[in-house]
Amino acid sequence: MSANEKAGGKSKPWSGRFSEPVTDLVKRFTASVAFDQRLAEFDIGGSLAHARMLHAVGILTKTDLAAIERGLAQILDEIRAGGFVWSLDLEDVHLNIERRLTDLVGDAGKRLHTARSRNDQVATDVRLYLRASIDHLLALIKSLQRALLELAEKHAETVMPGFTHLQVAQPVSFGHHLLAYFEMLARDAQRLADCRKRLNKLPLGAAALAGTSFPIDRLMVAKELGFDGVCENSLDAVSDRDFAIEFCAAAALVMTHLSRFCEELVLWMSPRFGFIDIADRFCTGSSIMPQKKNPDVAELIRGKTGRVNGHLVALLTLMKAQPLAYNKDNQEDKEPLFDTVDTLTMSLAVFAEMLGGVKVNAAAMREAALQGYATATDLADYLVKKGVPFREAHEAVAQAVRFAETRNCGLAELRLPDLRQFSPLIGKDVFEALTLEGSMKSRSHLGGTAPTRVKAAIAKARKGL
Ligand code: ARG
Repeated sequence: MSANEKAGGKSKPWSGRFSEPVTDLVKRFTASVAFDQRLAEFDIGGSLAHARMLHAVGILTKTDLAAIERGLAQILDEIRAGGFVWSLDLEDVHLNIERRLTDLVGDAGKRLHTARSRNDQVATDVRLYLRASIDHLLALIKSLQRALLELAEKHAETVMPGFTHLQVAQPVSFGHHLLAYFEMLARDAQRLADCRKRLNKLPLGAAALAGTSFPIDRLMVAKELGFDGVCENSLDAVSDRDFAIEFCAAAALVMTHLSRFCEELVLWMSPRFGFIDIADRFCTGSSIMPQKKNPDVAELIRGKTGRVNGHLVALLTLMKAQPLAYNKDNQEDKEPLFDTVDTLTMSLAVFAEMLGGVKVNAAAMREAALQGYATATDLADYLVKKGVPFREAHEAVAQAVRFAETRNCGLAELRLPDLRQFSPLIGKDVFEALTLEGSMKSRSHLGGTAPTRVKAAIAKARKGL
């Protein structure tokens, strides 16, 4: 008696060569159906393309193809309606669907797996899944970029202290600050689009590892599934998951960028800064401290960056030192990959919403910029324009700052005779250079923080979207 017979009805299609069924623990340990059922729609799409090709090259009859098409359509309906019964005994998404197909249409269902293996099947499914995921993520990045532009537009003229080392450095336009994140996201989108290009090749036809003895037409399948071509080496096609690693690397960078922004939102919302308020619907309270309003959404996105970075390392480690060709290790690619997609999707969507709930306290930003001698560089530049070498100008301004500190006032609040102690070249026109607005306005070159530039950058960004 084979394992097939011993196990009764639900045994696996491969159990013919075994003398006993796997133990319960092994069954649970090796099964992937609990998580890879997410691939079902792509699995069905891949099977349809495969079946149509088998018919086109004369391997499947017209009647068999019609039966397969009918059966798979019904299975898709069942899955979408939530009525499909997934069986752990059938290991993974592929065998579950194949068995149901055979139950529905008989022998035609059993012929579907001709010239194919689960190895090229799963590699195809994952690529199709990731391609669709990237398309969705790209749309989400765009929405977030739009939200950024909207806020930036309102605040092209709003002054805030720009920081280096988290110390007040120079005044910048808040809109300019926001556009920095627009740029990061633009590169993130490029990276994802680039990853999509490389992954959009068809593995199907590689079969288990060596190809198949049937006269298949891979280009036809590739075309039907919207791939730009086929994986050119069968061993590589079934075994490498570099495309998933690449995706996770791009995803980790998106999260890293979001985490930087979140960190700033958290800081800015602290009463110590008071630069912004985040609408109540994006915050939560404390169960012990009645006064608290916490920026949880921003903190969580910051925190979730850790798990996405972790998934990247998990996939790199999974792939490391795997000999050719397919190994079961690769089944472990799915959970990290799916969680990366889910985390990124949620984070981008909630971030865009949250930005719509950010209220800016322009007065607090301005006040903070006034307190840190943010225009000291402008005074040095002023002297340089009057012929003082920059290093000397730097020294003179440093003295002026020390002096202002002893008076407990800003540079612009010093009287002209006080300022002239540090350089006789200082004239009345210095005060224009010392204002926050004057400082911003003067940085009007490409990429600078002058409000006119910021507005131009926003217009350009809008066009590019
Ligand atoms: N569930 C498997 C995976 O995710 C499908 C491929 C299994 N192939 C095999 N020869 N056991 O990788």
